[in-house]
Amino acid sequence: MVLKFAEPRWLVAKTTTHLLALLPLALMIMAAMQGGLGADPVAELTHRSGRWALRFLLFSLAMTPLRRLLSRPWPIRFRRLLGLYAFFYASLHLLIYLVLDLQGEWAQILTDIVKRPFITVGFAAWLLLLPLAITSSKKWIKRLGRNWGRLHKAVYAIGLLAILHFFWLVKADKREPLFYAAILGVLFATRLIAAWRGRAAKHPSAASTPARR
Ligand code: HEM
Repeated sequence: MVLKFAEPRWLVAKTTTHLLALLPLALMIMAAMQGGLGADPVAELTHRSGRWALRFLLFSLAMTPLRRLLSRPWPIRFRRLLGLYAFFYASLHLLIYLVLDLQGEWAQILTDIVKRPFITVGFAAWLLLLPLAITSSKKWIKRLGRNWGRLHKAVYAIGLLAILHFFWLVKADKREPLFYAAILGVLFATRLIAAWRGRAAKHPSAASTPARR
């Protein structure tokens, strides 16, 4: 295989991203081994994995606006990687819930999905993440063509569901879920503005004509 000139730089950048992305997992394992997870270790692991799932989702969503802001293509190279880490931490979060919280009584999750709205919403977010993770490869991008982009726009809805899930379970201090909601709002707004500008550039006359009622 012939190595391109730019490859070592990307290799370093991607390896660093993987290492940073795996750091929260390493810290969770270390804290678990040293008894540093507080009075309720299972709850602490659920909280940490859930937060990292949400954060990686937002990091991945931030890559397209960052590309526009910097007028450089490189952020896009990290979008898929960060999205897959969102799925990884969301699946870890689900696994911790199933194995450590429900302790093997897995049928209980069906009752939870029906009776506890925040679980319903969290589960819906995870289910929607699943096809995005499966279709994230180059093979699927080719196979789905334009539909790939349409499918992957669902990531905003997933972000919204994940934040709603967080918002619902927090009893008193809602500042953290509100902070994530504000970030998602800004990212979505930049997307809308870019789409509007793109349309205006394609059809300049339509953009300057007032909309018909
Ligand atoms: C797969 C289905 C899911 C289940 C069963 C589930 C379950 C839970 C549970 C039991 C908690 C802790 C509730 C408490 O403290 O009382 C929690 C918290 C949380 N979950 Fe999920 N969740 C799911 C999916 C997700 C997904 C997909 C995300 C993000 C992408 C997510 C993000 C969060 C966040 C941010 C928290 C709050 C963490 C904190 O309090 O610090 N969850 N979830």
